[in-house]
Amino acid sequence: MAVLRFEWDSLYNELKDCTKCRLCERRTNIVIADGDPHASIMFIGEGPGREEDESGVPFVGAAGRLFNELLEEAGLDRRKVYICNIVKCRPPQNRDPYPDEAEACLPYLRAQVALVRPKVIVCLGRIAAKYVYDRDIQISKQRGAVKKAGAFYIIPTYHPAALLRKEELTNDLVFDLCTAKKLADRIEKGEEIEL
Ligand code: URA
Ligand code: SF4
Repeated sequence: MAVLRFEWDSLYNELKDCTKCRLCERRTNIVIADGDPHASIMFIGEGPGREEDESGVPFVGAAGRLFNELLEEAGLDRRKVYICNIVKCRPPQNRDPYPDEAEACLPYLRAQVALVRPKVIVCLGRIAAKYVYDRDIQISKQRGAVKKAGAFYIIPTYHPAALLRKEELTNDLVFDLCTAKKLADRIEKGEEIEL
């Protein structure tokens, strides 16, 4: 436990003054994570928006409030899952992070995955899925398709913000969250998983 504590401390220490990419220039706060660092499900979004940059907490804006409702619908408690992003600093005007920014920030995400050791990783939206699941992801075709990668199961799904424009995606997103929950429950019970 002491070792883990030390490793979390060094991750936070390294992150707090990070200048590894240009997104450091305009940030108010670095947005590292929310939720339970021992969670069995980890959610990965794209990057902070305005409210996240102001508060230092991921998924607290409009998309975040919707995400909270979807989690509840799927029987998940936000405090018991781990929530983070591909990039930890807000891209200007919420543009997609550039590949060099994502690559610069990915070592932090890898460290988060290694420390949390989730059973299931859910990629919220195309950008997260691109860097974590499949470089050539087509989210509308591949959402919900569980893949095993090393010690983890990964599920790509829509970004909650997509529902703000296209409400009809709601059922699919909730379905994928339910898949993640069921999978994590089965793994915790020690069941064999066949894909
Ligand atoms: N969108 C994201 O991808 N991440 C956040 O933290 C907030 C909105
Ligand atoms: Fe560092 Fe990531 Fe922020 Fe870029 S986005 S400055 S790599 S913490």
